[in-house]
Amino acid sequence: MSKVHVIDHPLVQHKLTIIRNKETGPKEFRELVNEIALLLAYEVTRDLPLEEVEVETPICKTKGYTVAGKKLGLVPILRAGLGMVDGILQLIPTAKVGHIGLYRDPETLQPVEYYCKLPSDSHERDLIAIDPMLATGGSAVAAISFLKKYGCASVKLMCLLAAPEGIKAMQEAHSDVDIYTAAIDEKLDSRAYIVPGLGDAGDRLFGTK
Ligand code: PRP
Ligand code: URA
Repeated sequence: MSKVHVIDHPLVQHKLTIIRNKETGPKEFRELVNEIALLLAYEVTRDLPLEEVEVETPICKTKGYTVAGKKLGLVPILRAGLGMVDGILQLIPTAKVGHIGLYRDPETLQPVEYYCKLPSDSHERDLIAIDPMLATGGSAVAAISFLKKYGCASVKLMCLLAAPEGIKAMQEAHSDVDIYTAAIDEKLDSRAYIVPGLGDAGDRLFGTK
C-alpha cells in the first residue's frame, strides 16, 4: 500500500492557510503555491540516493556526497499543476518537465485528456506528478495510468490538498505511488469540490473566475 505523507511543517501550514482564504488574490496565491511546492519538494526528494565523492576545500581534501541514481522528471497536470512547477524547479533546476492536459468534466466528473508531451527518457526517470488538488482522484489516477502506459515505473504524486475519497481512489488504482500533500481535508461536496479546500485551484491561479 502506498504511503500518504502529510507535510505539516509550520511554514507549509502558514502559507496554506493564506491560500485557503477567499480574499487572497491571484498574485499572492501564485507566489504562495510556488513557495509551498518548493517546501513539499524538499520532502518528496528526502530519499534520493547519494554517492560518496571526494572534494577539495580551500583547506584540504574531504569526503562529500552528490545525488546519485535516476534523474528526476516533473509532470504537472494542466492546468493547475503548472502553478507548482517553478517552485519545484528552484530546488531541482535540472529536472525535465512533461505535461499532461486533463480537465474534469463538470457533469460526469470524469477526466478528459487533451494534451500530453513527455520527455523522451521519462521511463528512465523518477517522476513527480503534480496537481494541487486530489479531489475524486479521477484526474491523478488517469494521469498516472497514462505515465505507466509509457513505461514510467517510478512515480510519486505531489498535491497541496487531498480529500479522503481521492486518496482511496489513488491507493486502489496505484498502490505503488506515494502521495505527498500539505493537508488531508474533510470531504467532497456535492460538486466534488474539496471541503474546506481552497476553491478551484486553476481559477484562483490564473484569475479565470
Ligand atoms: C482540477 C485540479 C485537478 C482536478 C482534481 O482541475 O487541478 O486536476 O480538478 O479533481 P479530481 O481529483 O476530482 O479529478 P480541473 O479539472 O478544474 O482543470 P483545470 O486545472 O484546467 O482548471
Ligand atoms: N478541483 C479544484 O480545483 N478544486 C477542488 O476543490 C476540486 C477539484
